[in-house]
Amino acid sequence: MSFLELAKNRYTTKKYDAAKKIDPSVIAELQEILRLTPSSINSQPWKFVFVGESQLKARLAAVSYFNEEKINQASHLVVFSGLDNVEQFEQQIHRHLPEGAVAYYNQMLKPLGDSSIKAWLNNQVYIALGFFLSAAAHLGLDSTPMEGIQAAAYREILGLPHHQPLFAVALGYRHPEDKNQPGLAVKSRIQPADIIDTY
Ligand SMILES: Cc1cc2nc3c(=O)[nH]c(=O)nc-3n(C[C@H](O)[C@H](O)[C@H](O)COP(=O)(O)O)c2cc1C
Repeated sequence: MSFLELAKNRYTTKKYDAAKKIDPSVIAELQEILRLTPSSINSQPWKFVFVGESQLKARLAAVSYFNEEKINQASHLVVFSGLDNVEQFEQQIHRHLPEGAVAYYNQMLKPLGDSSIKAWLNNQVYIALGFFLSAAAHLGLDSTPMEGIQAAAYREILGLPHHQPLFAVALGYRHPEDKNQPGLAVKSRIQPADIIDTY
C-alpha cells in the first residue's frame, strides 16, 4: 500500500476486538522503529512503556477518562513520556552526543531557561508519535493516540522518576462494528487551500 493510501486508511480506533492480541514479534519491531525515531540534535529525550499485561493496562485505563473502554479492549497500551529533568538531560547528551550537538544545545537552547527547554524536549516526543502511528498502520495495526490520560497517575503507576507521561497510544485490531473506521465515517480535514501554500 502506498503511504498516501495508508494515510487515508489509518484512523483513530474507538472500538477494539478484545479477542485479538498483537504478536510479540510485531511489538518488538515497533519498539525498534520507535528507537529509530529522529529528534532535534538526536536528543532522544523519551521513554516508551509498552503494556500488554491486562491488570496493569486496566489500572492505567481507570485513570484515562473517556478512553477507559478502548484501553481495556485494545491488545496493548504504549505510554510516551518526556524527560522532565533538565540536569538529567544535560548528563545524557554529554554521554551520547558529539561535541557539536552539545555546543548547539548550550548556545541555542540552554539560555532560554528550563520551561522552554522542557517544552522543546516534549516536542521531540510528539515526533515519535507521528512516526509510531504511521509504522503501526504499515504493520496492519489499528491505533488510538490519547492525550486524555491522567498524566500524574500514570507516572505514579509506572514509577517514572525522571519522565513525565505526555500521551498514550492504544494498539490492537478494530472491532468490525467500529463506527469511526473508513467506509463508515468520512475523514474530516481542512481543505488544502486553507493550510497549504505552494510557490
Ligand atoms: C496528540 C493526540 C491526542 C489525541 N487524544 C485523543 C484521545 O484522548 N481520545 C481519542 O479518542 N482520540 C484522541 N485523538 C484522536 C484525534 O481526535 C484524531 O486523530 C483526529 O480527530 C483525526 O482523526 P483520525 O485520526 O481518525 O484521522 C488524539 C490525537 C492526537 C494526535
